[in-house]
Amino acid sequence: MKHLLSATDLDASTATLVLDTAAEMATLAGREVKKLPTLRGRTVVNLFYEDSTRTRISFEAAAKRLSADVINFSAKGSSVSKGESLKDTALTLQAMGADAVVIRHPASGAPHRLSTWVAGSVVNAGDGTHEHPTQALLDAYTMRSRLGRLAGLSVAIVGDVLHSRVARSNVHLLATLGAKVTLVGPPTLIPPDLRTEVSYDLDAVLPDADVVMMLRVQRERMAASYFPSAREYARRYGLDGPRMRRLPDHAIVMHPGPMNRGMEIAPEVADSARSTIVEQVANGVSVRMAVLYLLLGGKS
Ligand code: CP
Repeated sequence: MKHLLSATDLDASTATLVLDTAAEMATLAGREVKKLPTLRGRTVVNLFYEDSTRTRISFEAAAKRLSADVINFSAKGSSVSKGESLKDTALTLQAMGADAVVIRHPASGAPHRLSTWVAGSVVNAGDGTHEHPTQALLDAYTMRSRLGRLAGLSVAIVGDVLHSRVARSNVHLLATLGAKVTLVGPPTLIPPDLRTEVSYDLDAVLPDADVVMMLRVQRERMAASYFPSAREYARRYGLDGPRMRRLPDHAIVMHPGPMNRGMEIAPEVADSARSTIVEQVANGVSVRMAVLYLLLGGKS
């Protein structure tokens, strides 16, 4: 595999290889091996046209732990504000010797376009409402490490699925790895094209869920007239304490972040022992190390 553009690029054996490699990276970190020489002499460019905290920082940490040189490019403050195109920006980075470009972009399909212009590997770090494959990998890693398996798990993905690249990538990857996914939310926020089960009743789904993944309501991608009322949304689709207690004892609560505390998830749930939210962030570094290692092959 040269690029990681979509979770659909991953068959079951490749996805499992990424998760197993990430587990090895985490084991090494646990043994205080803070840095590996694997990507010494290679250059990873983080090309971010949209804001990010977790993804950008964890890709930077992952590349540095593999001894790669890292160039962080943010569209804000660059020649993009003078009208420079994605293609010309990509060719400029190519001229600087990028071996891999990690891209986040508001336009769905931008990473795919980029992969036709640059010689190095391209990793999709979130494109519009399309996909966020490394988030799905770190989510799968977290489920597997907490619950011991992925095949046969019941995963409820709840909320603003329509605008969620995280949900889209999770639906694809979890199906590949044998989990059963149910999308839950208001009918207006469930897209018709994702082929998996759908429910509009969160209370009915919770007692059978092994995993409940809450999604951020993405107001920035909605017309102002379309905003759901926070109180009404929380009443019907928010995960609060009483709802959390409907889950089986072993079930976990996930959220990719950033959260709207008090809207899709109550603080007592986000900060509870069932919550894997901080663990997901830590696992993201190991998973992104695995992705960079497998794509760049450690060859110089
Ligand atoms: N989960 C996620 O993609 O978070 P950031 O937007 O902070 O990168």
